[in-house]
Amino acid sequence: MPVRARRVVRLALVGFGHVGRRFAELLGGPYGRILRRAGLEVRVTAIATGRHGLAVDPRGLPLKRALRLVEQGRPLTTIHRGLPVASTAALVAAAPYDVLVELSPLEPLTGEPATAHVAAALRRGRHAVTANKGPVAHARRHLDALARRNGVRFLHEGAVMDGFPIFNLAERCLRGVTVRGFRGVLNSTTTRILSRMEAGVPFEVALGEAQAAGVAESDPAFDLDGWDAAVKACALANALMGADLRPADVERVTVRGLTAEAVEAAAREGKRWRLVARAERTGRKVTARVAPEELPLGDLLVSGGADGVLVLDTDLMGEVGLWEGAGGVDQTAYAVLSDLLEVAGPLRRQARP
Ligand SMILES: NC(=O)c1ccc[n+]([C@@H]2O[C@H](COP(=O)([O-])OP(=O)(O)OC[C@H]3O[C@@H](n4cnc5c(N)ncnc54)[C@H](OP(=O)(O)O)[C@@H]3O)[C@@H](O)[C@H]2O)c1
Repeated sequence: MPVRARRVVRLALVGFGHVGRRFAELLGGPYGRILRRAGLEVRVTAIATGRHGLAVDPRGLPLKRALRLVEQGRPLTTIHRGLPVASTAALVAAAPYDVLVELSPLEPLTGEPATAHVAAALRRGRHAVTANKGPVAHARRHLDALARRNGVRFLHEGAVMDGFPIFNLAERCLRGVTVRGFRGVLNSTTTRILSRMEAGVPFEVALGEAQAAGVAESDPAFDLDGWDAAVKACALANALMGADLRPADVERVTVRGLTAEAVEAAAREGKRWRLVARAERTGRKVTARVAPEELPLGDLLVSGGADGVLVLDTDLMGEVGLWEGAGGVDQTAYAVLSDLLEVAGPLRRQARP
């Protein structure tokens, strides 16, 4: 029986942290098998990091070695082949790859440098896939137009609710449907803190517990003051409702004003306080807001064990909800795989130097 040749797809990973490394590990196992079954032979030809250097090898980098080097805190430069590469921007501009996988940290106020990396790849006629909310919240419309002009795709399934298929759902399963608005509980840190306060635990203690468990940052403002939820709301409004919002356009109300007494009293009445993100369209204008809301227990947004809940308000399908159980690195790595399968299927640009 003739053996079908697999198409080689070269990836540049910008960011080799929790998600990038998990994706690379799984490429050596189930992801590799899934991609091969889809007729694709994936090679990682470039990796950029912040403090662990850069590596490029047009034939494909040794991933197990790259993982070991970074886990040992050593630079990737020992596996680099060819002329030195000065910066991540230079790697994105010149390294040999077909798909840029952007997994650098979120910079919530500007979305940079991730947005610039994605734009540079798209201008080169390379597909771009990201789990970084920054480019979606700050420049989705621009990047989408850039991708279309260059005959490539910009996909970002991992940017909100990890790998739970929100963007794919809207694009593929809700064809012709208009998303009129949404409401969601998108920040798991505040849900965790508020749930503890319902049981009578003071705010500062609940926050300390979340920090000790590694789910809240040492500077918790990003979660508590609604920035995380605002960046997510912005990304959702831009991608699902065609808005062109920036995180600073989202009205934000902090959860810090909630007292333990108010949260406990609501719990006694069968209600729950949650940090809710909402967006709605009025005429041509889309507005988004993040604020604590007191919700009845039966509300879809009050769901025990959920890392996130999102309810879309649509014209033809009424309410469509997504419930995310435990989300994290594995789900986000899966989102990268799913986007990769999507862009690599109709890969138009074949092996270039
Ligand atoms: N972790 C999750 O569960 C999750 C879920 C959904 C979305 N996301 C998003 O996915 C992205 C990656 O998350 P993560 O958890 O993997 O982050 P992470 O563990 O902090 O890793 C970030 C990586 O980016 C590198 N980096 C930093 N600045 C860079 C630059 N200028 N150029 C190139 N590389 C740079 C870092 O290198 P050094 O370590 O050498 O500095 C590191 O390899 C983030 O945008 C995050 O918001 C993560």
